[in-house]
Amino acid sequence: MAKRNGNAERILVVDDVASIRIAFSRKLTGEGYECMVAENGENALALLKKYPFALVLLDITMPGMSGRSVLQEIVAKYSDTAVIMITAIDNAETAIELLKMGAYDYIIKPVYFNELPLRVQRALDRRKLMLENKEYRLDLEEKVRKQTDKIRGSFFNSLKSLALALEAKDKYTSGHSQRVADIAVNIAKKLNMTPKEIEQLRFAALVHDIGKIGIKESVINKEDGLTDEEYAYISTHSVIGENILTPVIEDKEILKMVRHHHERYDGRGYPDGLFAQQIPLGARIVAVADMFDAMTTDRPYRKSVSREIVISELKKNASTQFDPKIVAAFIEVIGKTAARHSKQTQAALR
Ligand SMILES: [Fe+2]
Repeated sequence: MAKRNGNAERILVVDDVASIRIAFSRKLTGEGYECMVAENGENALALLKKYPFALVLLDITMPGMSGRSVLQEIVAKYSDTAVIMITAIDNAETAIELLKMGAYDYIIKPVYFNELPLRVQRALDRRKLMLENKEYRLDLEEKVRKQTDKIRGSFFNSLKSLALALEAKDKYTSGHSQRVADIAVNIAKKLNMTPKEIEQLRFAALVHDIGKIGIKESVINKEDGLTDEEYAYISTHSVIGENILTPVIEDKEILKMVRHHHERYDGRGYPDGLFAQQIPLGARIVAVADMFDAMTTDRPYRKSVSREIVISELKKNASTQFDPKIVAAFIEVIGKTAARHSKQTQAALR
C-alpha cells in the first residue's frame, strides 16, 4: 500500500526527458506516493542528501553523470534506498550488471504504464523485507553481544573466586591478587598500553598465582626459610597456573603472563630462563607489582618493609631482576596507586 495515513513513501524520479519525469511522477502520485523529480544525476544526489527516499527510479543514459554512477553513490551512501533502473537498452547483460551493482530491478522503455505501480510496489516490498532483516540482525547482534558480555563476566568472576579461594588458603596474601592487578594496570596505563592489553594484564595479574592451589599449604605458609627442594617445589606454581587455565582461557597472551611472571630480566628466573624482551611485557609488569605488594605486606618469613625500602630495592634490582623501564614507570605511578589501595596496604606503604 502506497498511502500510509499521510505518511506516503517518497520516490525520486530521475530522467533527463521531461515527459517521462512528468508521466511517472503523475502516475505514482496518483497511486498515493510522494514524488520528487530530478533532470540529472547531480540534482538527484543533491535531493538524496536532503531527503530520505524509499525508492529512486533512475534513468541510465543522461547527459552529465550517468545513471550507473548515481547508482554507485546510492548503494554506497544510501543503502536503505531501493533503485529501479530505467533503460532504453533492451540488453540483458546491462540489466544483470546493474542488478549486480545493487539495483533492485530495471524497467525497459517504453514503459507499460499499468505495470509501473506493480514494479514499484514489488521493489518497495523487497526493501521493507530487507530493512526488517537488517533490524532483526542488528537486534540479534546486540543480544549476542550482551549475552557474550554476561558469559565473559560470569567466567571472569568464577576465576576471581578461584583466586580468592587461593588467598584463603594462604593466610598472608589476602587481597594480594587484587592489589597486584591494580598496580599492574596503573603501570600499563603509564606505558600507554592498549585497552585490550590492559584487560589481558588485569586478568592475568588477578590469577597469576592460581597455580599455588596445587602447592601444599604447609610449604606456602612455612614460617622458616625454604629448603632448595621446597623452593623448587613452590616454583612450579607458575607452570601449574598455566596448566589450570589452559583448558578455559583461549587467550595465549594471558597464559604466557601467568607462566612467566617469575622470569628475571637477566635470564635467571623460572620456569624457562627467558631474559629481557623475551619475557612477555605483561609478565615483566606483574613481576614488579608482585614484588612490591609482597614486600609491603607481612609474609610467613618476614614482616613488611617500608615503601621507601621497597623502591630502593626495586631500583637496585632494575636490569637484573626487573625491566628498568617498568621500574621507572612504576615509581612514577606509585603515588596514584597507593591512594587507591585498601587501608591495610596503605598502612603497609607508610
Ligand atoms: Fe607467583
